[in-house]
Amino acid sequence: MIQADNNLQQMSFDAKNLPKNSLVCVVGARPNFMKIAPIIRAIKANADQLPVCLIHTGQHYDDAMNKSFFNDLEIPEPDINLEVGSGSHTVQTAQVMLRFEVIVEQIQPRGVLVVGDVNSTIACALVAAKKNIPIIHVEAGLRSYDRLMPEEINRVLTDQLSDYLYTTEASAKQNLLKEGISAQRVHFVGNVMIDSLLFCKEKAANINDIMSKYAALDYCWRPGSQFAVLTLHRPSNVDQHEVLERIINVLGKISEQLPVFFTVHPRTKHRLEQFGLDALLKKFSNIICLQPLSYLEMLGLLSHATVVLTDSGGLQEETTALGVPCITLRENTERPVTVDQGTNTIVGSNAELIMSTFDNVMTTGGKKGRIPDGWDGNAAQRIAEHLLSNL
Ligand code: UD1
Repeated sequence: MIQADNNLQQMSFDAKNLPKNSLVCVVGARPNFMKIAPIIRAIKANADQLPVCLIHTGQHYDDAMNKSFFNDLEIPEPDINLEVGSGSHTVQTAQVMLRFEVIVEQIQPRGVLVVGDVNSTIACALVAAKKNIPIIHVEAGLRSYDRLMPEEINRVLTDQLSDYLYTTEASAKQNLLKEGISAQRVHFVGNVMIDSLLFCKEKAANINDIMSKYAALDYCWRPGSQFAVLTLHRPSNVDQHEVLERIINVLGKISEQLPVFFTVHPRTKHRLEQFGLDALLKKFSNIICLQPLSYLEMLGLLSHATVVLTDSGGLQEETTALGVPCITLRENTERPVTVDQGTNTIVGSNAELIMSTFDNVMTTGGKKGRIPDGWDGNAAQRIAEHLLSNL
């Protein structure tokens, strides 16, 4: 693991050759990559009007969490990687701030564009705010109303600081207005995650190839075969022994009916080992543990899944866009449109509720849902057009 430096010293980065007065776009962690890809593409199409730089904070650094996404999503190589690595939230956020400030001083950006709700998002927004640089927040206004989630704190604070707030669903504007943010700053553009999904759908990995690569064991996939996909990484699910054990046991039961493909996030892997729960997991031979998949592999897998069980924000949206039933192992969602209009059901970590919802999907086929407004593949284009005429 790359450990963030606890000594908060300023680092030197050379951004002198990057275009002055450009739009600086920031990425840090895996869920940022799908969001930034279409935005960079749409803005670069008008590079003469608005030059753009891409700064990677280095919050995620493992190849499986990072590099393959740049290839799959056709994101240009970042102009600078701040290489902050892992650490406590404070250390990670502070390191991003210290390092990003050096860049901002050299580029003097016309604006700083941040996406989503990770630590890199708030850290860069805060640096820009202190320097009076306009902040653009993509995926603004989502609220779980659960301050125990670090992402919720990042969302609320980033939105307060932002000048251009681009939203993905109607609930976001209501949330922002309640927090005193002026309606003039809020613009509904749709969902850039779905831009990426539609951009990549045709080239998603072939399901036969995925299965022969990962499921050689006893599992033989044929067209029409059923399987579940599981992802799990929220601190509320994986950081307590008892909760993680309960979830694994119920997934063990589910795996008696369907093979479960479990893509294991590094945080979850550490916890499973720390709690000695990797042994329990091994007892369930029909739970197939995989390292984090590339974007194109995950898209191929999701498109054929019978059901997805997850605590990820992005997967709640992707399953709605694909029409695949999603069972969300959280007590709340900041993306209510996936429940009201999409295929998502919120169940928390209660074993009976997870099981009964799963049984319901197996007997009824699960929620059918519809595609929410603005999830049409053109959200980034709308952002680019708005920025080109307003920034
Ligand atoms: C972060 C985001 C979360 C997002 C998730 C997606 C915050 C507060 N959280 O959570 O919103 O859903 O990314 O993956 O920003 N690690 C590695 N390799 C890596 C990255 C992390 O081994 O490339 C390990 C480290 O032990 C690290 C732990 O995973 O301490 C957690 O990583 P971190 O970036 O702090 O948060 P995530 O749980 O990934």
